[in-house]
Amino acid sequence: MLVRLANGREIPVEMHKTRIVQKIYLKSFAERLKAMEEGGYNTFSLRTRDIFLDMLTDSGVNAMSDNQLAAMITADDAYAGGEGYYRLKDAVKDVLGFDWVLPVHQGRAAEHLLAKVLIKPGTVIPMNYHFTTTKVHFELAGATVLEIYIDEAINTQSKHPFKGSLDPQKFRDVIKKYGREKIPFVRMEATANLLGGQPFSLDNLREIRKIANEHGIPLVFDGSLIQEAAYFIKTREKGYDKKSIGDIIKEMMAEVDIYYMSARKTASVRGGLIAVNDKKYYDQFLVWLPVYEGFLTYGGMSVKEVEAMAVGLREILDVEVAGSSAEFVKYFAERLIESGVPVVTPPGGLAAHLDAKRFLPHIPQSQYPAGALAAGVYLASGIRCMERGTISMERDAKGNEVFADLELARLAVPRRVYSMSQIEFAVDRIAWLYKNRDLVGGLKFVEEPPVLRFFFGKLAALDNWGAKLGEAVKKNFGER
Ligand SMILES: Cc1ncc(COP(=O)(O)O)c(C=O)c1O
Repeated sequence: MLVRLANGREIPVEMHKTRIVQKIYLKSFAERLKAMEEGGYNTFSLRTRDIFLDMLTDSGVNAMSDNQLAAMITADDAYAGGEGYYRLKDAVKDVLGFDWVLPVHQGRAAEHLLAKVLIKPGTVIPMNYHFTTTKVHFELAGATVLEIYIDEAINTQSKHPFKGSLDPQKFRDVIKKYGREKIPFVRMEATANLLGGQPFSLDNLREIRKIANEHGIPLVFDGSLIQEAAYFIKTREKGYDKKSIGDIIKEMMAEVDIYYMSARKTASVRGGLIAVNDKKYYDQFLVWLPVYEGFLTYGGMSVKEVEAMAVGLREILDVEVAGSSAEFVKYFAERLIESGVPVVTPPGGLAAHLDAKRFLPHIPQSQYPAGALAAGVYLASGIRCMERGTISMERDAKGNEVFADLELARLAVPRRVYSMSQIEFAVDRIAWLYKNRDLVGGLKFVEEPPVLRFFFGKLAALDNWGAKLGEAVKKNFGER
């Protein structure tokens, strides 16, 4: 919840108290450099013990509530017919309004089933923006992903409240160019992760739905951050400030044919689901569910997580839960801006995003500025963030590098995990790094996997800049 201080400043306050904690460590610079070099300048390869604040992602690392943990203890441990599934089904009906639910082990498993059932080779999938796993699954099934975002989407210094919108005119053009039969569905991602967690408006969703209806094209909705999407509609779209998160979610869902999500994000558990009202889709997905995931009533998830998902889904209706991450992200981004650091504006859901093209203008995209920035942030602070730029792209069919629209270092704010003083530490070190940005250099691949290379790729610092940055860190901050 946002509260106003006597000096007029609005700050987010935590509407929960902490009852279980995990010890963390701030390793010395020498230890951080060793970890980074051994990990091939890829923050994915770091171990928890080497990390001070883990801002890699919000996926699977949000804090769960006491009621979620309680539900895990009483979980019904059945292979088939588990009661947890029926509690989840009821929660999905109450919160999202869908009758038919298929749990899956995580978001990308839902994408795999969507691709398996709905995509034929040679088709095209229009969407507001891709997510890494979405694109790979859809392309493996033979489709081409068409990102038809509004032009403002890739302006990193914008005031546009809904940069995650899908451009209606571009959608009409795509339908005209390819024809309805080549378009199995249109996909809306709420919020658009790789654009910096940017939302679309309900108005935009309705317009896209209207166009899709005119041509009989189903609408697929990736609701991995649905509560943030609803929170942004409530706080940014005219006419919604008095509506509840639940009402807004219901209004969004009225436009959707197939809903899926990574519950690792939405419901703070480790799982995912697909939900529909048209039983035709349900029957098609159900055929493949036991092949790739598991029996219907657990879908590859632990039954404990199924129970916790049912509880977590209901909890997103609380505006203090729905807005908790977005408010901290806003505070974090605004404090960075006050310190002169280039971040993506307006702040979106899930993370504060450093704009690496502006932060490190001396590093060309061929030397991966977002990856270099993520490494630099870790070396300067012990904070782990994620590259969301060219390293996160796939090479084209000829093996050429595909430069990302945006080069971002994403500092995720998992829900209810970090405190204000930890955010202030992050701001301070990142501001210091920005002042000393010339010390950060480019990266080159030394081991490059053929697919989703950002996960396991190994890189090296050009001209050994990590060690040089270390000298400056030590001079300013001592060992840590
Ligand atoms: C928008 C979006 N869709 C899909 C996924 C994939 O979900 P998962 O990581 O659970 O497989 C993610 C994961 O971060 C995501 O952000």
